[in-house]
Amino acid sequence: MGKLIIRGQKRLKGEVTVSGAKNAAVAILPATILSEGSCIIENVPDILDITILKNILTNLGAKIENLNSSTIKVDVSNVSSYVATDSQISKLRASYYLMGALLGKFKRAVVTFPGGCDFGVRPIDQHIKGFEALGAKVDIEHGKVIIAANRLVGAPIYLDVVSVGATINIMLAAVKAEGITTIENAAKEPHIVDLANFLNAMGADIKGAGTDVIKIRGVKELKGGHTYMIIPDQIEAGTFMIAAVATRGDVLVKNIIPKHMESLTAKLQEMNVKVEEFDDSIRVTGRDKIQKVNIKTLPYPGFPTDLQPPSTVLLCRAEGTSTITEGVWDNRFQYIDELKRMGANIKVEGRMAVIEGAVRLSGAPIRATDLRAGAAMVIAGMMAHGETTVSNIECIDRGYEKLEEKLRNLGADIRRVTNEKSKNR
Ligand code: EPU
Repeated sequence: MGKLIIRGQKRLKGEVTVSGAKNAAVAILPATILSEGSCIIENVPDILDITILKNILTNLGAKIENLNSSTIKVDVSNVSSYVATDSQISKLRASYYLMGALLGKFKRAVVTFPGGCDFGVRPIDQHIKGFEALGAKVDIEHGKVIIAANRLVGAPIYLDVVSVGATINIMLAAVKAEGITTIENAAKEPHIVDLANFLNAMGADIKGAGTDVIKIRGVKELKGGHTYMIIPDQIEAGTFMIAAVATRGDVLVKNIIPKHMESLTAKLQEMNVKVEEFDDSIRVTGRDKIQKVNIKTLPYPGFPTDLQPPSTVLLCRAEGTSTITEGVWDNRFQYIDELKRMGANIKVEGRMAVIEGAVRLSGAPIRATDLRAGAAMVIAGMMAHGETTVSNIECIDRGYEKLEEKLRNLGADIRRVTNEKSKNR
């Protein structure tokens, strides 16, 4: 089990390049199953979730070639099974996209229940509602989701909650269905638009992705043979922007779509941070004093829930008392107990965290409780006085490509220790 050891109080300075979007890549890889033949995907992040997904697809019969460090060729001509019950499936949430993709391809799917970060209950009722509306029968037996349809027929589907996963899964299942499917109250995240663009490049007919009504006209076949580039990772970009402010640094974050960062940019400006936008980069210059703010996380274009943990850490150094209200997940404040070990003064009241600012964090042994909380712990370590050890860092590797290497290039004092026998946290 690896650990990150961080000596804090170093200002981040320089340039960092953001990798391809994890949450787009984890949808686009399963989506390849729907095509005939092969396609080339560029800007694929080198992260653990993608390694696991590649293994799962390979076990289903796909041939995946690494053309370079961020480009892969996926050939699905030999994928002939709709059963995905690999033990690796329960390691990540996004494996639920195999349901939509296999159903769309074979009109059948048997998929082990997905895993992923623990934010309390993570239901899939809206995914199931969508599959059933298209004509499938869905059963859950022995930890597997069993889906079968004689025909898949397009239908209007209204989502009771705005769900990224359900929107994507319904798109995957409906893209080759007969007739028209309309998803109302759809999620609008950038990775939904990216998946729609990927599917349309293969011959799908999807309109409205990025709005709350998505219209999918089913097509008979999705062709392979094209090259597609995944968008930059909005959350990785935001993590570096926050890290720059947290350390009073000056960082140019490159390979970014500034429009995707608007909710964060607005909050940083409200904190009195200097943010300069360029075509595909953003420069963030921290200040010695930043102002308190109130944040509420919401589906896109609202403030992303995945930037909530790093923002909480940052606000520990704001002037005054800030609040963060979690508007997406029931239980996404588990990491706050770890921050308290470093001296943070935060009270959690239901879905709201009240953060006392101007606190001096001191290094401590802490644990990454999940992926984004893990990135937040690293930022806390970089802000703190003294040494911080972050354990359980495998969950950071799930979604951040070479995080410590990128931070080290910006001047952070951070190193990974892999063979430590000590079990103290
Ligand atoms: N929900 C339901 N029923 C459903 C589906 C969702 O009630 O059938 C609820 C959830 O409980 C939650 C809300 O709807 O309260 C939103 O969940 P959503 O389905 O949008 O989340 P997800 O698809 O499981 C994705 C990202 C998460 C990110 C959320 C919200 C992937 C693989 N995961 O999860 O990313 O937090 O959207 O933006 O795309 C991460 O990258 O660290 C991460 C956790």
